[in-house]
Amino acid sequence: MPENNMDKPKIVTCTAPVNIAVIKYWGKRNEELILPINSSLSVTLHQDQLKTTTTVATSRSFQEDRIWLNGKEEDITHPRLQSCLREIRRLARKRRNDGDPSLDSTGLSHKVHICSVNNFPTAAGLASSAAGFACLVYTLARVFGVEGELSGIARQGSGSACRSMYGGFVQWIMGEKEDGKDSLAQQVEPQTHWPELRILVVVASAERKPVGSTSGMQTSVQTSCLLKHRAQSVVPERMVEMIDAVRRKDFPAFAELTMKDSNQFHATCLDTYPPIFYLSSVSHQVISLVHRYNKHYGETRVAYTFDAGPNAVIFTLEQHVPEFVQAVQHFFPPDTNGEDFIKGLPVSHAALSEELKRGIGLEPMAKGINYIISTKAGPGPCVVEDPTQHLLLSDGLPKKTM
Ligand code: DP6
Repeated sequence: MPENNMDKPKIVTCTAPVNIAVIKYWGKRNEELILPINSSLSVTLHQDQLKTTTTVATSRSFQEDRIWLNGKEEDITHPRLQSCLREIRRLARKRRNDGDPSLDSTGLSHKVHICSVNNFPTAAGLASSAAGFACLVYTLARVFGVEGELSGIARQGSGSACRSMYGGFVQWIMGEKEDGKDSLAQQVEPQTHWPELRILVVVASAERKPVGSTSGMQTSVQTSCLLKHRAQSVVPERMVEMIDAVRRKDFPAFAELTMKDSNQFHATCLDTYPPIFYLSSVSHQVISLVHRYNKHYGETRVAYTFDAGPNAVIFTLEQHVPEFVQAVQHFFPPDTNGEDFIKGLPVSHAALSEELKRGIGLEPMAKGINYIISTKAGPGPCVVEDPTQHLLLSDGLPKKTM
């Protein structure tokens, strides 16, 4: 091969989704390997609305591994990044040693340049680490020709990242082994399974930066006996019920389990010593709004769930979206005239009846919510074939536009 061709970098770009847990992961039994104390289940959100894009380049001419996140060079020595890089390289080497003839092994010793961006603001408070690590692992695997089970590697970047390796409805089975080999994600149903299901990410105006999930769950494991009870006696049964509700597309059952699990997760945060508060007064008002809305109709039409922050994620069916969004807008009058309030999938206008407003009967909370992202369940990580979408140029440096 001519010299200049050998120096030409190999470049791959992929995208990966955000996921939202309806049975929460909270607490590790092994910090290093990121092994959880309970199984969890999530819905993968559609990448048309929320995604991470990652480009990985390898070249003989690169001097060192480097990474740029959202336009800024970051420290590649971060232990979790190193775990993912090490594991992918180990698998690639194993494949080569096992004699896979299709494997181009020349790049195995090459350094990598990684560049990653989110198409959603960090301020949206969505766990960007899940999409970020899923995308990193998926893209590295493509570059190094590694195939097969990758969720166990994504898990070592961030626990919830293992669930972003699949689309649709995904469970993370906690596993039993000390080495974590059986702590993996598995698709329960694909994203096409429940096409009427809709998801609204309700971005609350945050007053402060909450405690991070990694340190929060550490303190919970050390101090909360409610968390122990939850992991041992509540979640195992709930996982079975949740999988059943998803399979049967039973919205009321799915919704009730989702809300109860979110509430129990936040109860374990309160049971943590010193306590952790993720929900704000806006979150509490969203919870009241959902329960009053459901009560008004005498059936469970809407559900909420909250992660380690004040933003609500709402689940409902397509037919209820316009009215519920209108209700949110009524009880949280936005700053703007509503123009930029709804992002993502279009939401048609609905009128709110006086009866419903009276039935809900909450005091409106002005500017409590910044905006809503309307989305649905979506696919897992994808390869971007169009080379113009690469985030790194052929010299291995990020494009200037970022
Ligand atoms: C509340 O996956 O961010 O979102 O494994 O330490 O990186 P680490 O934690 P992370 O925790 C997510 C916690 C959660 C619930 C969930 O997604 O299941």
